[in-house]
Amino acid sequence: MSNESPKTFHVKNYGCQMNVYDGERMAEMFAARGMDASDKEDADLVILNTCHIREKAAEKVYSEIGRLRRKDGSSPVIAVAGCVAQAEGPEISRRASEVDIVVGPQAYHKLPEMVAAVAKGESTVDLDLPGLDKFAALPKRRKTGPTAFLTVQEGCDKFCTYCVVPYTRGAEISRPFAELVDEAKALVDAGAKEITLLGQNVNAWGDGEQDLGTLIRALDRIDGLHRIRYMTSHPNDMTDGLIAAHGDVEKLMPYLHLPVQAGNDRILKAMNRSHSRDSYLRIIEKVRAVRPDIALSGDFIVGFPGETDAEFEDTLSIVRETVYSYAYSFKYSPRPGTPAATMDGQIAHEVADERLQRLQALISEQQAAFNRDTLGKRTSVLLEKPGKLEGQLIGKSPWLQSVHILAPGLSIGDIVDVDIVEAGPLSLKGELLMQVAA
Ligand code: 5AD
Ligand code: SF4
Repeated sequence: MSNESPKTFHVKNYGCQMNVYDGERMAEMFAARGMDASDKEDADLVILNTCHIREKAAEKVYSEIGRLRRKDGSSPVIAVAGCVAQAEGPEISRRASEVDIVVGPQAYHKLPEMVAAVAKGESTVDLDLPGLDKFAALPKRRKTGPTAFLTVQEGCDKFCTYCVVPYTRGAEISRPFAELVDEAKALVDAGAKEITLLGQNVNAWGDGEQDLGTLIRALDRIDGLHRIRYMTSHPNDMTDGLIAAHGDVEKLMPYLHLPVQAGNDRILKAMNRSHSRDSYLRIIEKVRAVRPDIALSGDFIVGFPGETDAEFEDTLSIVRETVYSYAYSFKYSPRPGTPAATMDGQIAHEVADERLQRLQALISEQQAAFNRDTLGKRTSVLLEKPGKLEGQLIGKSPWLQSVHILAPGLSIGDIVDVDIVEAGPLSLKGELLMQVAA
């Protein structure tokens, strides 16, 4: 800790896109106060924006804190933010005395005040879960790349028995419609071509009358915005209005991340997922009926307590039945304080490892096949970053595939039409046709 006000800052993010969004907003707050972003090694203030969703997250944070100590024995001002902060609370500064600030995901708008308190020799903890206060307190969006995140909803009321989110992010809460349209417009004015709407249960966004489909239709009318995406969704919140938007809102990209977690009804019930294998498959059918080319992705957990070999086979079979373009799969990790952590029948690591390998092999096959199917197709690509080769840019197809293009004269943020001329298992190569929008 130092008694001078920090002049430079560094935000290190762990975990999900919500943390990426929160990290950007923290950086904007300090930049608006005249502080400069810098490398972790040189920064006067380091914010660790942590994740608690799976194994060893807290341990990683403690070892990172240790590494922040400088050669002369001093440390920067250290703030631990995010879900580990919420879950561990004041225990963090007890275990790591270098930590000056512990701030939960709903209280980070108070970071500048907390940093000022540290300069006066105080250390502070704020784990309030007040809901929407922080958004009003944050500065207007002024800087973005071509793709931007916009948090529309936070928290979760679903209480899946394996998950810490309802405890670390609090209850489901939706930001007001007008505020979101304003933030989206500000992002587009600052250069965003694509906006991804974020929320732990993004499709639970709404105010009783409007659902996420309504919000997407409002954003569709913003000139200069070309692409809209959203994640992560819960099957039970997949309203007819939102499904219909997939059929007729052109800017809504043909991609849906809809986790099912497991394919067996007994396991789904033990997970408290409140949907069944069949109800999930029926939703997929409805979405495909309005948007046949939609790319589907999902999340899976293997080795949930009590999962038998036969029940795991049901997970493989729902993957075969659904057919994904990509999916995330995880070994069950007991989270302190969640009901599943103390359930009988915890699965041995070796068994879960073997299941994970089999599931991942199947998902990789499906991903490669999905990519192969785009070979020879003509599609648009939003250029996001430079590639490794001279004159090469990398962008995303509507289906969220990475596309490499040799594109002298083009810039990041351009949207171009290409023919897909090569399809590898993980990425595609495109040949330029013409520029659609700049
Ligand atoms: N163990 C393993 N995976 C988990 N997830 C959430 N909690 C756990 C846990 N305790 C996974 C789920 C969720 C994704 C974000 O992380 O698949 O959808
Ligand atoms: Fe966690 Fe379930 Fe809520 Fe998703 S729906 S955040 S898995 S409790």
